[in-house]
Amino acid sequence: MDARPIGIFDSGAGGLTVLHECLVTMPHEDFVYLGDGARCPYGPRPAGEIRRFAHEIASYLEQSGVKLIVAACNAATSAALPQLQESLAVPIVGVLVPEAHAAVQATRNRRIGLLATEATVASGRYEEIVHALDAGVRVVSVACPKLVPLIEAGVVGAELDVAVREYAAPLREAGVDTVILGCTHYPMIRRVFERVFGRGTTLVFSAEETAREVAETLERKGVENDQARAGATRFLTTGEPGEFRELGERFLQLPISRVEQVSVRELERAAA
Ligand code: DGL
Repeated sequence: MDARPIGIFDSGAGGLTVLHECLVTMPHEDFVYLGDGARCPYGPRPAGEIRRFAHEIASYLEQSGVKLIVAACNAATSAALPQLQESLAVPIVGVLVPEAHAAVQATRNRRIGLLATEATVASGRYEEIVHALDAGVRVVSVACPKLVPLIEAGVVGAELDVAVREYAAPLREAGVDTVILGCTHYPMIRRVFERVFGRGTTLVFSAEETAREVAETLERKGVENDQARAGATRFLTTGEPGEFRELGERFLQLPISRVEQVSVRELERAAA
């Protein structure tokens, strides 16, 4: 048994979709969620900068005493996961492998679409992982720069609908039967994707697949917490705590009594 919490981080509120699935799967665990709101979005940034941010946050979480870190951000996972795993002692789970694996299992016509941020698409990591599992699968990728800023701003309605339809069009033309929603913010607008793609397309979200991977990892390493207890979550942000709390409560449908602010300086110090 291991009573230490699990650390989860994202560029902003998107990783809450992973936290939610973890709370459903592992209600007995404690979590520390860190959203880097002050530097969100990561998607338009160069890989080296995202790698630096991810390293700072993961170091901060490791030093705070977590037993496992979930990089609940596709952009951070695609830019930094191998380097994080090399440089830190704590196990780190990313969001790409679980999702790619689920998509390869689900596709019937071996044509998979990917919708993600610019950084994730540019990294080419999804194609690499999908091809390592099935070299005969065709992957059609579309970068969606408008979505994270709209989701973080809580915008729903025509603007969001139009943007999703625009990004989905090349995937529909390519006849994909499975779509990887390769950004942890996207389950927050799950219903929009479901309407745009309809029933015939399998949508793969990172949150469910990643929570499964986290639960399996804890079990296999023998570091689960006592199953009889009720877990608690601490929320940290580099951004504005009030905004984070509002978005978080709305999405999680969970009262959040306190959001702690961490400065970017503190994160930089942790990695120094
Ligand atoms: N949730 C992050 C991801 O999964 C969003 C990246 C961003 O901030 O652009 O990629």
